[in-house]
Amino acid sequence: MVRIDLSVDKFAEEPLYRQLIRLIRERIVNGVWHPGERLPASRDLADVLGISRISVVNAYAELREMGLISGQAGKGTFVTGNAGGLSDPGALPSVAANPMAHVLQRHPPNVIAFSGGAPAEEFMPVALIRQAFNAVLERDGAAAVAYEETEGYYPLREAVADYLRTTGVVCKPDEVLITNGCQQALDMAMQALMSEGDILITTNPTYLGILDLARVRRVQTIGIPLDDDGIRLDLLEQALSNQRARLIYIAPTFHNPTGTIMPIHRRRRLLSLAREYDIPILEDGVYHELSYGPTPPPPLRALDDSGLVLHASGFSKIVLPGTRIGYLIGQGQAWERILRVKRAADICTPGLNQRAMHYFIKTGALINHLERVRRLCRERRDVMLHALKKYMPDGTRWTVPQGGMYTWVELPHNGPTAAELYNNAIPFGVTFAMGTMFHTDSSGGYFMRMNFAAQAPDKIDEGIRRLRMAWHALSTNATPLAPVTGAPIM
Ligand SMILES: Cc1ncc(COP(=O)(O)O)c(C=O)c1O
Repeated sequence: MVRIDLSVDKFAEEPLYRQLIRLIRERIVNGVWHPGERLPASRDLADVLGISRISVVNAYAELREMGLISGQAGKGTFVTGNAGGLSDPGALPSVAANPMAHVLQRHPPNVIAFSGGAPAEEFMPVALIRQAFNAVLERDGAAAVAYEETEGYYPLREAVADYLRTTGVVCKPDEVLITNGCQQALDMAMQALMSEGDILITTNPTYLGILDLARVRRVQTIGIPLDDDGIRLDLLEQALSNQRARLIYIAPTFHNPTGTIMPIHRRRRLLSLAREYDIPILEDGVYHELSYGPTPPPPLRALDDSGLVLHASGFSKIVLPGTRIGYLIGQGQAWERILRVKRAADICTPGLNQRAMHYFIKTGALINHLERVRRLCRERRDVMLHALKKYMPDGTRWTVPQGGMYTWVELPHNGPTAAELYNNAIPFGVTFAMGTMFHTDSSGGYFMRMNFAAQAPDKIDEGIRRLRMAWHALSTNATPLAPVTGAPIM
């Protein structure tokens, strides 16, 4: 049982249940209360603090939603989310309370982090980008650092339209909005098309940035399971006929986190369903060009003739994330609204970054760079798959991605969950992204997303070896380290 050292201020402006959330969260995040420890029953805590039980019930409900505690009526409430086992508890944010912060976080050099969503720093073409920035400042002077048009620097919009033609997407420069990363493109579309309380359909699991957006924009999400070919259309159709949804968010190529690629026949059926139900699709193509297997089918935007598809993407995964150059391809009635939302959000995407990216594309640097990144990602994928086979316990399964940066790993269900393993892995110096973070419900407890692109090959091998040690230390029916019997999921 946790030690009850809480006191609330009944006369403070901050409501009692909010005070309780803050105090309990602090104790969990700072490692004062540990995973597995029991919290007092709501009635008991209310009695100790001299407050109404409803304040405690509300606080517990919110903490449960944050993933910091779990439990069922009658069975007790327990601490779950914590960066437990850390020598410096302040070093990690609470994963459960802020999954986006978790994947964006930098780790000390002794930690091998498979948790992030960024490419490796050594992939980033720093010298070429420096040259691009210098060249545009030299060429454009003050214009390079003035306000840009809201829609974006026109030559970059033209370059994006040209470049997209290589993926099969045909659009005019006027249909390109330059955004602060793909994340803002998703946000602009969501804000323009949805209102508070509306329903967004996505896959389950899905990109956690879309879940984050849904939370802050207060839209409801319905998660549709995937199979090896992406979203299950039978279940999608059921959802569409039962609910009045406003938008479908989908990443058909190298889906994050599962890596699935939707075949062309399913893409066409998805588009005809969207037409039938007259619902727009927000397509996320951010990993599309990161292919190192067979060429993936064209994006939905390339197959659509109904004007229902908005295509969001950007250069974060293929060049570098920090210049925040993304784009949204749209048309029709929603377009004016999207531009208004963008103008209200930040007036324009920084012009200097847009011009540097334009220079980078136009000098041919992008194409050369992409070739290199694909080759390195493929090499690192192979090392990761080999290491998983070498070290992970019997019954572990994983995907064999044909593009993108992640493999999706399922732990054997007779051992620790991913959350338990995560907490135990930190002292061993390895991290990953827990599967539950990507789910619209509380499922995914045995899944982990591993970013292999972010680590050098020797680190990948060492990281998976450490993970095996962490797993082994936890596993109650521990098997010897030697057996090598894990297998790919697909
Ligand atoms: C599927 C997906 N969409 C969008 C983004 C955000 O990309 P950006 O950095 O360009 O905003 C990410 C980043 O992890 C992603 O995985």
